[in-house]
This record gives sequence, structure tokens and C-alpha cells, in this order.
Amino acid sequence: MPARYPRRLAVVSQPRPVAVIVLAAGEGTRMRSRIPKVLHALCGRSMLGHALAAAGGLDPQRLVVVAGHGREEVSAEAARCAPDVRVVVQDRLAGTGHAVRMVTETLGDLPGIVVVTYADMPLLRTQTLAALVREHAAAGNAVTVLTARVPDPSGYGRIIRDDDGSLAGIVEEADATAAQRVIDEINSGCYAFDGALLAGAVKRVATSNAQGQEYLTDVVAILRGDGHLAGTVLAADPAEIQGVNDRVQLAQVQRAYNGRLLETWMRAGVTIVDPSSTWVDVDVTLAPDAEILPGTHLEGRTDIGPGARIGPGCLLRDTSVGLDATVLYTVSESAEIGPGASVGPYARLRPGTRIGPGAHIGTHVELKNATVGEGAKVPHLSYVGDADIGEHSNIGAATIFANYDGMAKHRTTVGPHVFTGSDTVLVAPVTIGDGAYTAAGSVITEDVPPGALGVARGRQHNSAGWVERQRPGTGSAAAAARAREAAEPGTGGSAPTGGDKGHEGDKGHEGAEGVEGKQAR
Ligand code: UD1
Ligand code: CA
Repeated sequence: MPARYPRRLAVVSQPRPVAVIVLAAGEGTRMRSRIPKVLHALCGRSMLGHALAAAGGLDPQRLVVVAGHGREEVSAEAARCAPDVRVVVQDRLAGTGHAVRMVTETLGDLPGIVVVTYADMPLLRTQTLAALVREHAAAGNAVTVLTARVPDPSGYGRIIRDDDGSLAGIVEEADATAAQRVIDEINSGCYAFDGALLAGAVKRVATSNAQGQEYLTDVVAILRGDGHLAGTVLAADPAEIQGVNDRVQLAQVQRAYNGRLLETWMRAGVTIVDPSSTWVDVDVTLAPDAEILPGTHLEGRTDIGPGARIGPGCLLRDTSVGLDATVLYTVSESAEIGPGASVGPYARLRPGTRIGPGAHIGTHVELKNATVGEGAKVPHLSYVGDADIGEHSNIGAATIFANYDGMAKHRTTVGPHVFTGSDTVLVAPVTIGDGAYTAAGSVITEDVPPGALGVARGRQHNSAGWVERQRPGTGSAAAAARAREAAEPGTGGSAPTGGDKGHEGDKGHEGAEGVEGKQAR
């Protein structure tokens, strides 16, 4: 049993490929899209990004992308995902063999294991590629093909075996006989090659096939013909090799990827009440005992702390949520929510919002570039833009931080333990001192010193008897008459005299006789 020894060795050591080649030149016409297929994203990452992440997990000496259709955009995305990536251009789509030949002709000798994979197979995991590489090295193959058994093999290349079961070659569907089409073991399109043999073999690939293309699949028969070993690794989960050719498959693959992420988080101690309506991006992190309620989307680098309760109905992007905070029906981007804070329902946190520990942001409140101190409250119907609110302040319902004068944005500072009355407008730049109050309905344009009450509104005038004089015959006038009769019995049906008597249609009351004024508070 001498052959078993190297296999055992391979189990403990993971060979490092000299290169991984990611094929991404295809046009993806069935996407019917303005952008190249491989730039379509799922779970917050482009398909190309997923492929590069899976390939990068093998720690190859070189990571190579073959770009053709939309090469500028594809190159830019490749560089963004993997700064060390090398892009090789394939200027005409002459087949998968041609694509690999462009790489070997550009990079020269690649002595070692070369892995080839596709940019449109986002479910493929590093561990599957790693198993392919281990088997390839352990068996001493010139080529090892990742295969899968599928219920419907149509469209795929079929795996052709010799009578002894060894891999003889791959035949494309268009070139297959009826008997070959029945074969349910298919070519995934991922391979491990002996790099020293690959360059010579791809040069010998012919175009005498149904599609007139250079098929990379032909390399298997070429190497076998030269007397080299060829083998296969069967993918444990055939779903991993599902390619994306249209938007229906993109949605299927996204749901599968999302489900995989959610399962990982649930096994790590996160409660996800309804996985079918919960969506997380690949870079999201969730701490144990976090609870995610239905209809929640967590995007970008969102980070949810232990015990936090998110949802139902939240969209959080690049948002961090602290220990035991609660967030309900909220949209948030580039914001921080402190431990024990509560946000929503119906809050909107825009970039630069920082909610302190235990603070409360309530219903129909929008914040932007604003800090809210520990224990402070903005409970109802407010806009808080470009502001700092001190700890334990209470911002009254419908307080508006008017940050924009039509030309520039200005900042507002609210000290600790401040109380703003309902419907206060704070016209920036303005400072409300520590412990100060503002009166309801005030338009505050000047600083309020610490401990002062800022009042900035017109005095109230009550024009006695106005309704009975000016709105006779209405329900209001009748109600007023009843109230007057109850308060002063015997005054009967005659309308009262008042300061405005004789001033029909007078709607201005400043300085009018008999008007009662009442100062704020
Ligand atoms: C290929 C395989 C087939 C396999 C299937 C798995 C060949 C000849 N056939 O078929 O055996 O079952 O994948 O999905 O390889 N590409 C380039 N340059 C090209 C052509 C293709 O970069 O000139 C890229 C595409 O962007 C794509 C991948 O290679 O990512 C596969 O190309 P595609 O045309 O979809 O190959 P299939 O015909 O599906
Ligand atoms: Ca394909």
C-alpha cells in the first residue's frame, strides 16, 4: 500500500498553489445588464469579490483574473477586492482554453499547482478548492477536476471515464453523444493543474468543436494522452458549483449564500427569528445573544453587540449597535448606537450619528452628523442635524435643529440636562447652555446661557367674543354662547362686546383694547 503514504501526508499539509486563475472575461448577456455580470453583487460583495475571496483563501503565490468584457470595470473591482491581483486581458472570447493560454503566455512558467476557477460561482468555498488541491497533490495528478453529480446535467460538460473508472476526458454538451448526455457527473469548471504541463497543453487545444472555441476541458484528454495522471474530486455539496447566468440564478444564489451566513450566526449564538426575511452581508458581525427580528437587512460592516435586539423592519448599513441596545423599524447608515440605547420606531440615522449609552431616539426622528449624550432623549418628530446634545438632555417634540441657511451648514451645541420645549427651532450656529430651557414654540437664534429660559415667540392675544361676532351661526359660535351663558347666566342671546367690536374683518389684534396677553410660562 505504498500509495497511501503521500495521501496521509496531504491531509495534514495544505499545498500552496503557485497561482489561482479566476476566469471573468465572459459577457453575461443573459443578465441583460449595463454592468459586467461578475460585478453584480450578492450579500454585499460582487461575484468577482466572492471568487477572489475563495481563491485568496488558498494563499496562492499569484492571484490572476482574466478580464475581457468590461475589462476596465472588472480590473478596478479586482484591484479593490485583492490589491495584489494580476489582471490578464483576453481581448476576444475564444473559449476557456484560450483564456488560460493568455495567462500562461503572459506570466511564463508557473511551476507548481495552478488552480482555475470562475468568477460567476459565488457559492464555491475555499475549503472545496482546498480539498481539490490536496487530492491533486496527493494523487500526483497532472490535472484534477472538481465534479458534481446533479439531477439535471444539461448545459454542463460531462465527465467521461474509462472502463476502469479513471477520468478519460470531458465532453461539452454540444459535442456529446446521446449516451454521453445521460451522464450525470458534470464538470464544475474548477481544476487543479500541474503548472509546468499546463502551458504546453493549452497551446495544443484545437477549435474543432461545435462552438469553434478553445476548450480548457480538452486539456484533460491531452494530458491523459501524454500518459499523465488525471483525477477528479466530487464536490460534497453540488450547490456550491451553481453558476450565475441570469438574475433568477443570482437571486437563488443570494438566498443560498444568505442562508449559509445566517446558519453560521445562529450556530454562534445569535437568535434569528425568521431567516427567510432576514438578510445579512458577508462583512456583518453579530455577537452572541443578539436577536434579529423579521424584515431586517444588515449591510456593509454593520456590527451588532451582545444582547442587542434589532427589528422588526430595520435597514442598518455600516452601523454599530452596542450591548443590549434596541432598534425598531429604523433606517441607519454609518452610525453608532451606544449600549442600552433605544432607537425607533421610525427613526432615520444618517452618517455621523452617534447615540450615547442609554439614550433614546423616538418616533419620526432624523439625525445627521450629530452626537446624543448618555441618557439624552429625542423622543418625537425631530430633525437633529450637525449638533451635539449633552447628556440627559430632553429634546421636546418637534424640535428642529435648523442647520442650513441656504448657503452653509452650521453646528448647534446643546449642553447637558437641557430641556427644549416642544416645537423649538434652534437656528444654528447657536448654543444652549448647561441646564437651560427653551419655551415651547420658540425660534432660538441667540445663545441661551446656562440655566436660563429662552423664550422667542410672539405674545398670545385673546380677542374676547371674536367668534360670536365674526362667525355667527356656526357651531363654534353656539358653543361659545353656551360657555358664556354658563359662566355669566343671563347674558342670553346677545353677542358680547369686545375689543374688536366694530372692526368687522379685523384680523390683527396687536395692541387692541381689551385683549388679554399671557407671557410664556
Ligand atoms: C464551461 C465548461 C463546462 C462546465 C461549465 C461549468 C468549457 C469548454 N466548458 O462551460 O465543461 O461544465 O463551464 O459551468 O470550459 N470565460 C472566459 N473567456 C472565454 C470563455 C469563458 O473568461 O473565452 C469564462 C466565463 O466568463 C465564465 C467561465 O469562463 O466565467 C465559463 O465560461 P462559459 O462560457 O460559461 O462556459 P460553459 O459553456 O458554461
Ligand atoms: Ca456557464
